[in-house]
Amino acid sequence: MNAVDPHIAKPTLTSSVLRPRLRVVGEGETGPKVDSDALLGQYIPLHYHGQMLATETRVSAFREAIARLVPTGGVALELGGGTGIMSYFASKKARKVICVERIPHVAAAARKLLARNGVADRVSVIEDDAATFLPDEPVDAVICEMLHTALLREKQTVIIDRFKQSYLKRFGGPLPIFIPEATILAVQPVGSSYNFQGYEAPVPMFHPAHAAVDPTVQIGAPDVYAMFEYRAAIPQRFEYDRVLTMNAAGTLNGLRFITKNLVGIVPEEKRSFDWHMDYLVMPLPEALEVASGDQIRVQFEYDAGDSVTSLGDSILATKQ
Ligand SMILES: C[S@@+](CC[C@H](N)C(=O)[O-])C[C@H]1O[C@@H](n2cnc3c(N)ncnc32)[C@H](O)[C@@H]1O
Repeated sequence: MNAVDPHIAKPTLTSSVLRPRLRVVGEGETGPKVDSDALLGQYIPLHYHGQMLATETRVSAFREAIARLVPTGGVALELGGGTGIMSYFASKKARKVICVERIPHVAAAARKLLARNGVADRVSVIEDDAATFLPDEPVDAVICEMLHTALLREKQTVIIDRFKQSYLKRFGGPLPIFIPEATILAVQPVGSSYNFQGYEAPVPMFHPAHAAVDPTVQIGAPDVYAMFEYRAAIPQRFEYDRVLTMNAAGTLNGLRFITKNLVGIVPEEKRSFDWHMDYLVMPLPEALEVASGDQIRVQFEYDAGDSVTSLGDSILATKQ
């Protein structure tokens, strides 16, 4: 449960790198109007699920957390079931699993795959919107992986918040366990190369968390700006305005956004099953030459689920 554990994830291409980066009205581009809700990285067609299934750090954390936290003989609900892999893990413990997926062809694939894996009798796939879905009976555990670095793009917090409200209205308490249980967000001042074979292009960059060779220069320490449990109050907006002390000299030209999900917490063993998502490095509007000890005021703001661009547009860094 340490805030930012620097050696969890293997250097691998993870889902947030490979998930769809579709153009969305509101991200500042021109073009035909599209439903931003449908495109904001929220609904994920089947051809992106292979990479998610292959992201070992993600799947292992969920598999282990589900094995520990879903009660034997209980009822589990998965919101945003994709191919059904998490529901499959849950079916090893639960007597009944409900798997909700919005995209018809993905829901159909999940049905086939769950049958292929021999658990169709315990897992029912329902094609529905997780934002409004409520089960017919109380559930013991809710699994929801609609996560993206910095909680941008996908709708994890909104969906879980809405679910909690309507669940409490219909069934009263207690709330089920949520998997993941908690998320920690941090920001770190860095120097990054934005040079691509001679072409200078400061654009948002994703890097595997804890790659063997860090492609950035760490100029300040990570600073945690949000830490919450999904069962408790969930922040829907992040407003950051702090003065950070640099601990190395260099060219400060980026902010690294760090996202650690505590997928399952095992307090009796003082440990958690964690998933560090890819780092997101956002370029600063202007690079700053800094010395160790310099004070830099860093500002940004965004709503959970916002586009990467809207975060980028809000970033400011000024020498004090
Ligand atoms: C990041 S994927 C995770 C899939 C699966 N749970 C896994 O871990 O492999 C999120 C899934 O949620 C689905 N989804 C997103 N928004 C949804 C909504 N409002 N209702 C139902 N499904 C949704 C996406 O289509 C996608 O399949």
